[in-house]
Amino acid sequence: MGLFDAKVPRYTSYPPATKFSGDVDGAQYLNWLSSIPSGSRISLYLHVPFCRKLCWFCACRTQGMRSDGPVIAYVESLKAEIAVLAGLLPEGVEIARLHWGGGTPTLLSPALMTDLSRALHEAFDFTGDAEFSVEIDPNEIDSARIDALVAAGMSRASIGVQDFDPHIQEVIGRIQTYEVTRQAVEALRAAGVGSLNADILFGLPDQDQARMAASVQMLLSLMPDRVALYGYAHVPWMAKRQSLIPTDALPGPEDRVHLYDTARELFLWDGYRDIGIDHFARPDDGLAKAAAAGRLRRNFQGYTDDTCDVLIGLGASAISRFPQGYAQNASGTAAYQKAVRAGDLATGRGHVFRGDDRMRARMIEMLLCDFRIDTTEITQGFKIARGDLAEMFARTAAAFPGMVEATPDAFRILPEGRPLARMIARGFDAYEMCATGHSPAF
Ligand SMILES: C[S@@+](CC[C@H](N)C(=O)[O-])C[C@H]1O[C@@H](n2cnc3c(N)ncnc32)[C@H](O)[C@@H]1O
Ligand code: SF4
Repeated sequence: MGLFDAKVPRYTSYPPATKFSGDVDGAQYLNWLSSIPSGSRISLYLHVPFCRKLCWFCACRTQGMRSDGPVIAYVESLKAEIAVLAGLLPEGVEIARLHWGGGTPTLLSPALMTDLSRALHEAFDFTGDAEFSVEIDPNEIDSARIDALVAAGMSRASIGVQDFDPHIQEVIGRIQTYEVTRQAVEALRAAGVGSLNADILFGLPDQDQARMAASVQMLLSLMPDRVALYGYAHVPWMAKRQSLIPTDALPGPEDRVHLYDTARELFLWDGYRDIGIDHFARPDDGLAKAAAAGRLRRNFQGYTDDTCDVLIGLGASAISRFPQGYAQNASGTAAYQKAVRAGDLATGRGHVFRGDDRMRARMIEMLLCDFRIDTTEITQGFKIARGDLAEMFARTAAAFPGMVEATPDAFRILPEGRPLARMIARGFDAYEMCATGHSPAF
C-alpha cells in the first residue's frame, strides 16, 4: 500500500521516467539548453553507473566493475559530455548545485576525482555559495579519496548504511560493519564535510521491531544531519539480483508500517524533524528549514531545498529537467559513450510537458512535500477554475475515505493517510500506471 508499495511511483518526477518516450531528442534538448536565461543558477547531476560489488537488495541501475579500465574510459566520456555542454550553455549561467551519484562515485580513484572536478570547474562558472554533494559507500572510501573530494569542494556527503544488523546484511548481500561506517563518518567530519546524510531501509528480510530500533539507535550514535528512511522496494523483475533475496522473509504491509513507525518515533524522539514521506533532518539542517518555510521540493535525488528551475544530468541514463520537460541520456554506457565521444549529445528519450502536466506535477510535489495542495498557487499559477479543481479533489478523496480532507478550496492528507501519500498523489496522475511498469529512481 502507498508508501509501502513498490509498484507506486516515488514521483521524483512527473510523469515518472517510465512514461518517457522518444519525443525528446538531441535537437529538443539543445533547444531547451539554449532557452536557459542568461544569469540563471542551475544544478548539475553527474552519474557514475558502476560499483565494485553489486548488493543483492539494490534496485539502482548500476554495473559491477572490478577493473579500472572501463571507469577511466567512462570518466573520459563524462569529460567529453562536459565539453559539449559547456559549448552549448548560454553565457552567464552558473552552477549552484553539483551532485555526484550512482552507483558508487567513490570508486573513482583520487586522481580521477580531481581530473573530473577540474574539467567541471574549467568548463563552468560556479556560484560563490555552490553546494557539492557526493553519494559515498563507506566500504569504498579512504582518506585519499575524501581529501580529493574535499579539495574539489564537497560540502555534503550522503552515505549508504541500509541496516547495521549483521544477519540482515548477510541476507541482503551487503556487508558493512558499524566500525567501517563510523570510521567513514569520522573521517568525513575531520576533513571538514559540514553536512552528512545517511540512507537506511525498512522492510528488509527478517527485519523486526527490535532489529529496526537497534539499527536506528546505532545510526543516531553517528549523529547524521539528515536521514533518508526508504522502504525496501522488491522489484526482482527489474533488478534480477534481488532474486537472491528470500521473499518469504520479507515483512508484510502491516509489518512495514510498524517498522517505519518504530524508526520514525526514534528519530522524532531524538529531535529530528519529519520531512515529507521518508526523510528526517536536524532542525538546523537546510532541508528542515526549507520544510518549515514551505520551500521543500522534490527532484530525482528525493527531497531538496534546491530551487533551480534547471537540473542537468550528465552520464549514462542521467535525466535533465527543464521548465519545458525532461531529457534522458541513453541508458547503456556503450551507447552513451559512443555519442559523447563523437561530440554529440546522448539524449535518448524524455517527455515534453503538455496539457496540464506542469499543474499535476506541482500538485503531486506539494502532496509529497507538504501533504497538502496550495489551491491559491494552483489556481493562480495554472489558470484552472476552482470548480474543476474541486472536482479533482472530490474524485481523489472518494477513493481514500478517512485518509484525506477535501473541500472545494483545500486538499490535505490527514496523518492517518500519510503512509498512503504516494498512492493518494497517484490520484492526480493523469498517466496510466501499469502494475509493474514503474522504475524506482533511487
Ligand atoms: C544510488 S544508491 C547509492 C549508494 C551507494 N552506492 C552506497 O551503496 O552506499 C542510493 C540509495 O538507494 C537506496 N536503494 C537502493 N536499492 C533500493 C531498494 N531496492 N529499495 C529501496 N531503496 C533502495 C539505498 O538506500 C541506497 O543507499
Ligand atoms: S547499494 Fe550502492 S554499492 Fe550497492 S549495488 Fe547499489 S549503488 Fe552499488
